[in-house]
Amino acid sequence: MSEFELVVRGGTAVIGDALVRADIGVAGGRIAAIAGRITDAAQVIEADGLLVLPGGVDTHCHIEEPQPDGSIHEETWVTASASAFAGGTTTVVAHTPQFKGGGILDQHRAGRARAAQGMLDYGFHQIIADPSDAALAELPALVADGVGSLKAFLTYDTLHLSDGDFLKVLAAAKRHGLMVHVHCENHDAIQAAVAALIAAGHVEPKYHAVSRPPVVEREATYRAIALAEFVGQPIQIFHVSCAEVAEVIAEARARGVAVSAETCPQYFTLTASDMDRPDFEGAKFMCSPAPRDAAEHERVWATIRRGVLDVVTSDHCGFSFNGDHGKAKNGRDASFDLIPNGIPGLAARAPLTFSEGVSKGRIDVPTFARLIATNPAKIARLYPRKGTIAVGSDADLALWDPNRQVTITNSLMQHAIDYTPYEGIPVIGWPVTTIRRGEVVMRDGAILAAPGSGAWLAR
Ligand code: URP
Ligand code: ZN
Ligand code: ZN
Repeated sequence: MSEFELVVRGGTAVIGDALVRADIGVAGGRIAAIAGRITDAAQVIEADGLLVLPGGVDTHCHIEEPQPDGSIHEETWVTASASAFAGGTTTVVAHTPQFKGGGILDQHRAGRARAAQGMLDYGFHQIIADPSDAALAELPALVADGVGSLKAFLTYDTLHLSDGDFLKVLAAAKRHGLMVHVHCENHDAIQAAVAALIAAGHVEPKYHAVSRPPVVEREATYRAIALAEFVGQPIQIFHVSCAEVAEVIAEARARGVAVSAETCPQYFTLTASDMDRPDFEGAKFMCSPAPRDAAEHERVWATIRRGVLDVVTSDHCGFSFNGDHGKAKNGRDASFDLIPNGIPGLAARAPLTFSEGVSKGRIDVPTFARLIATNPAKIARLYPRKGTIAVGSDADLALWDPNRQVTITNSLMQHAIDYTPYEGIPVIGWPVTTIRRGEVVMRDGAILAAPGSGAWLAR
């Protein structure tokens, strides 16, 4: 019997902060050796000319997530897993909902049952939309099951928390040792803007961006940080769209406040003008916060390079364009406030970040690995099991051809959604093989994992 079940041979691997030409030996689904030459293996994958990166860790996804109207995202954990593997990602943290007046444990258990059908390794953020005494009393059981984080929304009609309720969530997280992730936009300001726009007949998708300019994101970010500082609870700001918000975070961090922040590819590839495309096509780009203008892309990269934004996630949302619960669910002439917010991006996340970051010379390869794998794994308490190439870590690897030129199309995304907002974007650099716990789960676009093979990650 061979000492190693798998060896990835001769690739250029990210080991810590360095690029090292090395063989990587896998035993028992874990990395067992990193050496100049490893021979005694049952299976060998030649990686000469390829980059060997940690499997991507996408800590902000919405997959088969029940919605307040009783619907559910229009894809399964199986198709979302295929999409993630196609883009070099092996681990996700998705969300389980809570609806106002409802509990959390029942939702958590149902979410785990759905996710267990897929192939991704997974954890959950628990959304708290109603921090009632009864709901908070369920937290110890949730924590005992391995949930390590709560999600708070400061906007959306059905989810937003008042300052008082947000303070309750922060205090509960502190009691239970949980991380809190926050969607920061000022709900009342958005509501006022939406009402005024609609009264003036401005209903097309492009007015989504007009209704939620950067100032509403900046105000809520400042407030979230101030309240977290007041309670003494670490937070991560989700999906930062622009530099003026990143500056609020940088200033707080400089004062020693425990706040970190992510951004997403939509904020360095899409613009508000995409929502101005004709025939309702603009709805394909509607997410919150809204993409800003093209000049913002470079400013977002500057804050990434400074380490202020240190994680890139997809904020993947399984809304189709034409499906019953998708963008057009209220008709193609629906006003923008009736169009579901969120876009699919699991497969595109890492290739867009590699291409816009590494291939365009904005960041180096180890920084890319930190953004899409190491840093999210650390914040999600999955490191060093996930997010790094190190002896003892899970053998989650993505083998990248750094020179492959690909034009993004929906079929390459391998999801069950009928569009990608990134259609037609050219990228340089593409994952050709994805390995999850030592098993080849994607090779040249073919998905090889069996449904049900994903693992729950207690955090
Ligand atoms: O528009 C977005 N981002 N939808 C997904 C839910 C959220 O806000 O994260
Ligand atoms: Zn959000
Ligand atoms: Zn989200």
